[in-house]
This record gives sequence, C-alpha cells and structure tokens, in this order.
Amino acid sequence: MAMDRESLGIAGLDKILGGGIPKETLVLVTGSAGSGKSILGMQYLAEGVKKKKKCLYVGFDSADGGIHAQAAQFGWEFEKYEKSGLLKVLTFNMAEVHVIAVITELERLARSFKPDRVVFDSISVISMYAEVMASAEVKQAMGSVSKDSMREEVVIRGTIMGLLSRLRHLNATTLVISELPEGGGGLSRDTYSEFICDGVIRLVRNEATGKRLATVSKMRLTDHDFIAHTFQIEDKKGIVFG
Ligand SMILES: Nc1ncnc2c1ncn2[C@@H]1O[C@H](COP(=O)(O)OP(=O)(O)O)[C@@H](O)[C@H]1O
Ligand SMILES: [Mg+2]
Repeated sequence: MAMDRESLGIAGLDKILGGGIPKETLVLVTGSAGSGKSILGMQYLAEGVKKKKKCLYVGFDSADGGIHAQAAQFGWEFEKYEKSGLLKVLTFNMAEVHVIAVITELERLARSFKPDRVVFDSISVISMYAEVMASAEVKQAMGSVSKDSMREEVVIRGTIMGLLSRLRHLNATTLVISELPEGGGGLSRDTYSEFICDGVIRLVRNEATGKRLATVSKMRLTDHDFIAHTFQIEDKKGIVFG
C-alpha cells in the first residue's frame, strides 16, 4: 500500500517527494529572509483547503503586512477559506504574550478544530523570544547579573523542544518555518530543530545568478534526491518549479 502523503500543491516538489510529505510528520522549511518560506506555507494550506482538509496557520506579527493580503497576491482567498471553516489563522505578538500562551492556544485548537495541516511561521520568532527570556530567567535564578550561557542554552533548548513536541502531538502534517541565519553553521537559528524534525526543505536565493533554489535535505520514509532545483515565485500562482 502506498504511504499517505500530503501534497504541497507544487507539482515539481511533490514529484521529488513521491507525492508529498509523509502524513503526520514535522517538516522544517528553512531559508534566508525573502526566500519564499511563507509563500510555500500558504500554498500548502491553499492546496489543503482545495482538498477539503482542515488547515491551521500560526503566525506572528511582522512587518510583512497581513497574511491575507499576501495570500491574495497568489489567488488564495484566505478570508473565504476561513468563512468555510476549513482554515484558521492564529496570530500572536510575542512582545505581548508568553510562549506558554501560544502552546495553550495551540492545544485548545487542536482539540476543538483537529487540523490536518499546520504551518507554524516561524520557530525563529520563538527562538529569539526564548533567548531573551532565558537570559532574564537564568539571571534571576542565579541571583546574579553575570551571564551563564550554558544555563541559558538549556532554557532555550527546553522551549524549542517543548514547542516541537507539542506540534508533533497535534497529529497533523506540519511545516515548521525557520529563518536560516546568513553564514551560520546550522539549518535553523536554534541549530537543533533540524535534527528533531522528520524532514528539511531548504530554500535559497543565489545572489550571483538571481535564481531561487529548493533542496530536500532530509525526509523520513522518502527516497528523494539532494539536488538544488530551481523555482520561481509567480503572481497569481505562487511557487512554480522548473
Ligand atoms: N506577487 C509576487 N510575485 C512574485 N514574487 C513575489 C510576489 N510577492 C512576493 N514575491 C517574492 O517573495 C518574497 C517573499 O517571500 P516570503 O515567502 O514572504 O519569504 P520568507 O522566506 O521571508 O517567508 C519576496 O521577497 C519577493 O521576492
Ligand atoms: Mg516569512
């Protein structure tokens, strides 16, 4: 029996993946700013709605403007999808809420809505938040003003692992978006979410050629290539391979 997969709605990428992402896995979508991660996420949800799947987008206040306006550029009618009951859009402002509030709300929605597809955009926002919180928490616990990077690292790791574990327990097929630090060693800001996730899709923009490239670096249960495939972002369409 062929394995159940969730298609991304991007023909070339679905082909590389043998039809899509294995069901109920956690896939990291990583790349630098402007590489197309959020568009890929929105496309995945638009495709889900088309297939009558329940979709959840979790985003954070950013300078990008509303997610609805961005989706509309590519012909995805997020407001209509929300009215139909197939899409829920959750937005948090991390300057105002604690990560525990994010997790609590996710779990509440998981029980009431039971999404098939989730996009979490992005784990880097949580990483940055965890870095700030960890520093304050460790200083308070140690009763000192000195930095203790080792302890801070433990708190940050705990936050990221806790969040990823919660996302995994939603039993949805989930894309976790991660900002790839320019020149950094890992595939994510925190450097370990790539090990915890079942798959990694990496998007880059070659500054010399102007070409956009996508590589599947890891995908559980899938025999995929490791080739950097060229793609375009097109008005009214979104991501188009080849
Ligand atoms: N309507 C459009 N047509 C073509 N390209 C677009 C359009 N809208 C945005 N883009 C491209 O997509 C990029 C943003 O993609 P996005 O998915 O938001 O990136 P990120 O990886 O930061 O989430 C922009 O920098 C631009 O190059
Ligand atoms: Mg983005």
